[in-house]
Amino acid sequence: MRTMRSVVADNLGEPSEVLHLRTRPLPDPGPGQVRIRVTAVPVHASDLHTIRGRYGFTPEFPTVPGIESVGVIDELGSGTDGLTVGQRVITIGVTGTWQEYVVADAGRVLSVPAGMSDSTAAQILANPLAAVILTGDELDVRPGEWLLQTAAGSTVGQSVIQLGAHVGFKTLNVVRRRSAVEGILALGGTAVICTEDEDLRERVADIAGHDGVSKAIDCVGGQVGADVSRALAPHGELVVYGALSTHRQTDPDKLTIPIFARSLIYETKIVRGFWLLRWFTETPKDRMAAAIDRTVQLADSGVLRVPEGQPIPVEKFSEAVCLAEAPEHGGKPLLVFEP
Ligand SMILES: NC(=O)c1ccc[n+]([C@@H]2O[C@H](COP(=O)([O-])OP(=O)(O)OC[C@H]3O[C@@H](n4cnc5c(N)ncnc54)[C@H](OP(=O)(O)O)[C@@H]3O)[C@@H](O)[C@H]2O)c1
Repeated sequence: MRTMRSVVADNLGEPSEVLHLRTRPLPDPGPGQVRIRVTAVPVHASDLHTIRGRYGFTPEFPTVPGIESVGVIDELGSGTDGLTVGQRVITIGVTGTWQEYVVADAGRVLSVPAGMSDSTAAQILANPLAAVILTGDELDVRPGEWLLQTAAGSTVGQSVIQLGAHVGFKTLNVVRRRSAVEGILALGGTAVICTEDEDLRERVADIAGHDGVSKAIDCVGGQVGADVSRALAPHGELVVYGALSTHRQTDPDKLTIPIFARSLIYETKIVRGFWLLRWFTETPKDRMAAAIDRTVQLADSGVLRVPEGQPIPVEKFSEAVCLAEAPEHGGKPLLVFEP
């Protein structure tokens, strides 16, 4: 029997305690499916959040984490015309990717442009795609408009800045440490607010002036998210897509965004959520394909430059897990599978 290496979470809990490298039987593709020999998968903080049972879905345990992958098709099931063995592909919204082989429905794989690195391909369908959707279908940020965003140095944040430079909208970028400011400006960010030593609301008014900022995205939550909602212009819209400030919190009071009711009501603002895994299941196929194609094209043409991942052999997965949540971690940890 052929076997493969899988990173498995035995049960719900702290990733450093429940994750193990296991040898498991190689899966076979069924009709309409392909089997992919995985070459690289990113480790996102949200993967760890899932293992802790604190994400938007709780899998059945034991489970293999992971929501993205790049690899090479190594076996085709029946009815998979148009795909070939040896073709390099990424998976679209397929979970359980932290293993050497993944079986995916043929409709859930996409060919990778020849010049695109494995590092970029492995990461493109979470963070850069989220940036494209948030600034496009979700908020329709137009040339000349301001977009306020938090955690601007994140992978999503960097993609948003690059999209701003490409489309012509202005980005007002919030970061938590002064040492990150220069990098944001060098990337093309229009202005930066550093919460280490600046008041968010005051600085938004200084920078955006009388008209203020009408569109914002936030992935920090807590008081920062609340400050962003309060800094918005009347009728402004905030899309909350992450809650980084809550990731290691267990106190229920710390899991809230304490929005100021009077500002929300009398300035008639909208605060709502966005989640890519819901988007993958609920978006009409043509709209989903359009956003994915746009993201891949923007990366292929160099408009979106995904920070180079940090490859870590799967045997050392615990290092990748620590790195994923470390402050100032830089490029994403990428689990790589060498034969
Ligand atoms: N809803 C969705 O569908 C969706 C899709 C994609 C991503 N996301 C979310 O987007 C967020 C960013 O993900 P990513 O993978 O792009 O991040 P990343 O590349 O891992 O970077 C994390 C960034 O967040 C900053 N950060 C971490 N904790 C913070 C805190 N408590 N307060 C302020 N800043 C903080 C870090 O700053 P330092 O450099 O100072 O450490 C770093 O710049 C995550 O919340 C993720 O779950 C959501």
